[in-house]
Amino acid sequence: MRYKINFENKIKELNKEKSKQYYYIDTMGCALNENDSMKYKGIIEEMGYVCTEDIEKANLILFNTCAIRENAEEKLYGRLGQLKNKKIKSKKEGNELYICIVGCMTEQKSVLEKIKTSYPYVDVVLGTKSMQYFAEKVYLAIKENKKTKEEQLNEHEIVEDVPIVYDKGYKASVSIIYGCNNFCSYCIVPYIRGRERSRLPEDILKDIAELAKKGYKEITLLGQNVNSYGNDFKGELSGYSFVDLLKDVDKIEGIEIIKFASPHPKDFTDELIEYISENKKISRQIHLPLQSGSTYILNQMNRKYTKEQYLNLVEKIKEKVKDVSFSTDIIVGFPGESEENFLDTLDVVKKVKFDMIYMFCYSVRKGTRAEKMENQIEESIKVERLERLKALYEKMVDDNNNAKIGKVYKVLIEGKSKNNEDKYSGRTEDNKVVVLDANPEDVGKILNIKIIKNNKWYLTGEKEKI
Ligand code: SAH
Ligand code: SF4
Ligand code: F3S
Repeated sequence: MRYKINFENKIKELNKEKSKQYYYIDTMGCALNENDSMKYKGIIEEMGYVCTEDIEKANLILFNTCAIRENAEEKLYGRLGQLKNKKIKSKKEGNELYICIVGCMTEQKSVLEKIKTSYPYVDVVLGTKSMQYFAEKVYLAIKENKKTKEEQLNEHEIVEDVPIVYDKGYKASVSIIYGCNNFCSYCIVPYIRGRERSRLPEDILKDIAELAKKGYKEITLLGQNVNSYGNDFKGELSGYSFVDLLKDVDKIEGIEIIKFASPHPKDFTDELIEYISENKKISRQIHLPLQSGSTYILNQMNRKYTKEQYLNLVEKIKEKVKDVSFSTDIIVGFPGESEENFLDTLDVVKKVKFDMIYMFCYSVRKGTRAEKMENQIEESIKVERLERLKALYEKMVDDNNNAKIGKVYKVLIEGKSKNNEDKYSGRTEDNKVVVLDANPEDVGKILNIKIIKNNKWYLTGEKEKI
């Protein structure tokens, strides 16, 4: 389905009579939500609103929410509570303020109920598959004071041609597949985002070609399970796979770095490994979610691989792809996780020597299979295991970084360093932040950088002398 500009123009007309109107957007959760927010920004800017970082200034506030863990919910309720007085005050002063909520939390009945009863001043609540109705619902709120608290308006269609506001710079992400079919027993995503739906290659390639034309050099292909891309294609496209898409992205002139997240270990084919080894544009840091190192827990999690299969996969990739490094996601304290099971996780971490670990305490999600499992782990044990994992990780980061000293990497110089105005920064092919001396003309270029120092959370480098 193609996105049609419709109500945006009507809102623009309404806003014309007023002074400048600002919007503020708060994005929680994963890269896919960040990507959706870029589309909401595009839609809202078509309405004539201007982006502000100052929530106090905003006439329209959008929360793009996440439901992956419990603390994400608490964060939203806190924010909504703080806005009550602002809403009353702005109404008294004749200064409108509209509050909208989209994203994953809105797909949960309990959340909808809570918003209706505790935060009735919210104007628009829309589900994850209803982005194309957003402008219309805002219009109804402005024009007719009509509030929308709908769940889902559009089940399975993919909406194309939504206006997108990309972040400035040289890096952009593009969603290639929506939804998830895996039903890991702890995870809420398949219930919220629905089944896997792959975007057509022509739509993806058109977006990337436009980005390349605008000067973007690095593309991240996004999906809950990127390497099942294309499995849902029928007819003419049947058989077109993730590797085929990578090959087509490779042909786009101007794109020099290709990343993807997240692949599922069970779908990491030999063909994909072979192709990564041949194509130097593909990032040498591969995100390979582990979740647990214990075969028993992995089975309980419905991950469909064992500890040995995961380690074999890592070995196979290391053999084929020179200088590869790995990042991962790990959950500690899944129901029934014994000390021995946890030690298996630490064992895998030591063997793989991950460069980056996103680690989480298991959080119960309503409606998932793990919610009903016995032997839920006490919070204090989860926290203690998380601390032990963190300590191991920190030690490993240090060792990994030391091993990089003296090596030369291709680094895309992204701009001034965030923490030091006199320096510039970029990332190595395996995704480590490098800070170095450079010139304004170097920004946007890919240079050969030699690593000279390890500072734990970043490296210091210097331009290689020729
Ligand atoms: N589809 C991706 C990422 C999903 S969400 C993947 O499979 O890798 C990001 C991470 O959040 C997951 O990898 C997992 O580690 C974590 N996560 C998901 N559900 C969780 C839960 N109930 N409690 C704690 N962490 C969870
Ligand atoms: Fe959740 Fe598993 Fe799907 Fe990732 S693969 S989104 S963890 S169900
Ligand atoms: Fe959160 Fe939804 Fe992503 S639940 S992690 S924002 S898909």
